Amino acid sequence: MDWLISSPGERIGTMKTELSFANLPSAETGLLVVLAVDTQTAKGPDAKPVPALLTADATVKAVAALVLASGEFKAGANETVLIHAPAGLAAARLLIVGLGKQGKATVNSVRSAAGTAVRFTKPRGIRELAFALPEAEFLPPGPCSRALLEGAILGDFDADTYRSDRKDLSVQQFVLIAPASADKTAVQAGFAEGVIVAESQNFTRALVNEPGNKLTPTILASRAAEMADQVGLSWDVYSTGKLEELKMGAFLAVAQGSAEPPALIVLRYQPEGVTDGPVLGLVGKGITFDTGGISIKPSDKMELMKYDMAGGAAMLGAMRAIALLKPKVRVIGIVCYAENMPDGKAYKPGDVVTAMPLSPDKPGKTIDVINTDAEGRLVLADGLTYARQLGATHLIDAATLTGACVVALGIHNGGAFSNDDETIARFQGALATSGEKFWRLPLGEEYVEQIKSDIADIKNTGGRHGGAITAAEFLHTFTEDTPWIHLDIAGLAWIEDSRPYIAKGPSGAGVRSILEWVRSY
Ligand code: BES
Ligand code: MN
Ligand code: ZN
Repeated sequence: MDWLISSPGERIGTMKTELSFANLPSAETGLLVVLAVDTQTAKGPDAKPVPALLTADATVKAVAALVLASGEFKAGANETVLIHAPAGLAAARLLIVGLGKQGKATVNSVRSAAGTAVRFTKPRGIRELAFALPEAEFLPPGPCSRALLEGAILGDFDADTYRSDRKDLSVQQFVLIAPASADKTAVQAGFAEGVIVAESQNFTRALVNEPGNKLTPTILASRAAEMADQVGLSWDVYSTGKLEELKMGAFLAVAQGSAEPPALIVLRYQPEGVTDGPVLGLVGKGITFDTGGISIKPSDKMELMKYDMAGGAAMLGAMRAIALLKPKVRVIGIVCYAENMPDGKAYKPGDVVTAMPLSPDKPGKTIDVINTDAEGRLVLADGLTYARQLGATHLIDAATLTGACVVALGIHNGGAFSNDDETIARFQGALATSGEKFWRLPLGEEYVEQIKSDIADIKNTGGRHGGAITAAEFLHTFTEDTPWIHLDIAGLAWIEDSRPYIAKGPSGAGVRSILEWVRSY
């Protein structure tokens, strides 16, 4: 076969990815994958599915003809059917994966289908896979190649890192086969992007998966710095001394109950020659474990609170992808790392803490701590202020901030909040490419009433009603008029049940959308 390019950039994981423009029957592989859609347009009980392959190759079509005619395979989204020893193909097996109804199938369905193919392959011990780029008018080859690589690399991730009987079932070789007639430049660009984006998202997932004892604030900050060195971002890591100097009283209060010192990382992406225009500030919540502190959480599911650094990890994944894809806009990434613990030295309900001032001569805002479990907004308050002080003109933050957001939106949409319609519109535009789902929730003066304090400027909880919104309004106090987006990913960052295209465990939610938002500038 004539391999045109191999994977660019720093590699994470073991899957080797290649792009080929050879014909499908010649693909020597354990498994050749082709996609299918249901072309039935009629509705009603008699309207049986009419599955059709998205390839023009006559040999592949002949192999699939019987099973497609049998009615056993309906080409539903992520539905699979396997054919052994396909006649006329060099591949050992042919796998058909459904995209669902023709009118509804999109590039996002292709991402899932690619994930499904890899997750089908892994437990069967098949180590190499070739994937036919679908030929269909509604699937543009560039974006489709990108989504395909994303789905495959994301699908290859499993969370079983610490099992001593762990068998590495990773797919060793993934070949994308594009038709010779396809736009080569678009396919190559999409392919290369997909690898970078998915490996960055898997970088995030690997961090989120780590338990709190293995990934303390200090260790996590050094892992972030190591990544920054690999991809050419400049960075600074600070701890208690610098936080005191900056008067980050809110962040320090959260950290003071832990034997582990806090860490603050600042990553800088400076594209060559760009000296004006916006400076985007990406700020993440990096609570390496959230016990709730003195307002301690119930023990049921508390172990999952190792994922309370997922917002910060999403920012790291986005920064990694930014460094490799090189958009022409300056970006600062800030993550605040701490462990929220109960202790003799821990902060307490009723404590009043002073947040970081925007400029050293001004006083910081005072915060009445009602609940030590509302710690994320405290570390973010200082992180957002610091981003503004460092010159960020536009802000985005990501955090596993509230259980209330999960109650409001469930686990399929993240919460998005903004003080600026233009800024959030760019983010909503980015969702079309990322395929992620975020739903805008309101802010408003009425909600600010709920977080007014008798003793201080603001309190850190706003009661039972609209908990995701009052949390966002708390952050808004610190972003003020700087255009800003807040993403609450509490319901997205951890997948409780495996899906056909992605493993259960850390999802890496937010990475792709934040990246596309940055690229919109
Ligand atoms: N990290 C939690 C939010 C969370 C809950 C994330 C469930 C993922 C899944 C956050 O620090 C928290 O404890 N929030 C409190 C806020 C409350 C005390 C106002 C919550 O949501 O209960
Ligand atoms: Mn908490
Ligand atoms: Zn938390």
